[in-house]
Amino acid sequence: MALQNIKYLVQEKGGQLVAMSVPKPTIVEPTEVMIRLKAVAINPADCKMIDQGHRVASWPLVAGLDGSGVVEAVGDKVKNFAIGDEVVAMFASGDRGASFQNFAVVPEMMVAKKPSTWSFENAATLGVCYLTAMMALGIGLKTRLPFLPGGPKNGFTPSSVLILGGSSALGAAVIQLLRLAVPDCLVLATSSPQHHKHLTSILGADEAFDRNSTSLITEVKSASGSQGVDAIIDAVGAGSSQRNIFDTFNPSGPQKYAQVWTGDEEIQVPSGVDSVMFRGRDLLHLQGGNNIMLALQKLLEDDSYKLPLPVHIVGDGLEALQKGLDMMRQGVSGEKLVVSV
Ligand SMILES: NC(=O)c1ccc[n+]([C@@H]2O[C@H](COP(=O)([O-])OP(=O)(O)OC[C@H]3O[C@@H](n4cnc5c(N)ncnc54)[C@H](OP(=O)(O)O)[C@@H]3O)[C@@H](O)[C@H]2O)c1
Repeated sequence: MALQNIKYLVQEKGGQLVAMSVPKPTIVEPTEVMIRLKAVAINPADCKMIDQGHRVASWPLVAGLDGSGVVEAVGDKVKNFAIGDEVVAMFASGDRGASFQNFAVVPEMMVAKKPSTWSFENAATLGVCYLTAMMALGIGLKTRLPFLPGGPKNGFTPSSVLILGGSSALGAAVIQLLRLAVPDCLVLATSSPQHHKHLTSILGADEAFDRNSTSLITEVKSASGSQGVDAIIDAVGAGSSQRNIFDTFNPSGPQKYAQVWTGDEEIQVPSGVDSVMFRGRDLLHLQGGNNIMLALQKLLEDDSYKLPLPVHIVGDGLEALQKGLDMMRQGVSGEKLVVSV
């Protein structure tokens, strides 16, 4: 068994990743799980932390929020995982909890078993977008979450929702979870045209629209029965530049707008629009939030939750993380960047 851990850290804001060999971490809390990373997925948040210092408490920083791997050690009070289990987890940037390293330590509630049919690379892409999509529904729109043990059983039941950024990792997760939470809801989504088939035939959107179409507003209104939609989930902060998107609301409907926190200023909305900002760390406020990864595990076992986006493996070995971050900075379209370990 390896005794050393290579972690990839950034010394200061705007820095490059540097490899550092340190002793393998130890379990400190009895409810912790140590994971040997087998694949790491890259998120826009990794770049925002490294480049702009978003939510960085101190430097040096080990980044990395997404990954999958094999359980290396467990604390005395860990109930559901054993050494050797293949898992997907939500990691925490900072140091010992981050995924840009060979071994990371996370609380048991942030871990789910990976089905054997899922590759480590595919599973590594699940955590952040799933968790944040759950916040979009449970906190942003306050829908029911029937598949979350202990989660809200009642809530807002929109008849139609427009998802801005259906081909983003977050949007692709939202489409699927909304379909499960409110099965009869008309689910509409925007993206570039090459992703429309994926959004409708794989993820379950009813209709997808070209996000750059000059007739987007009319098209969405007409698809929703001419009145307009009950709610919008903005997965990419599109409302800041696409100001006429609020015209897709049914003016006599609830006009709920759930906007993800992108790190930028909160998007201002026209009067009458009920706007709520959501983010991953709202988990603390979600009823049943402790069971969020348990719910993911069940959805994967039942085959009710699909791979949100195709995976693009950018390299083999943690040294490929720098290349992955550079690619993310250029922008991605309808895919997740992953490094195999
Ligand atoms: N606060 C949190 O906890 C949290 C958690 C997760 C994500 N986020 C934030 O949420 C945002 C999305 O994250 P992500 O990982 O899902 O992003 P991503 O996958 O990297 O997003 C790329 C996608 O965005 C789409 N897009 C960009 N502008 C668009 C627009 N105006 N309309 C429609 N689609 C648009 C592109 O669509 P096409 O290529 O089809 O044109 C592309 O597929 C980021 O700002 C991220 O930082 C925040």
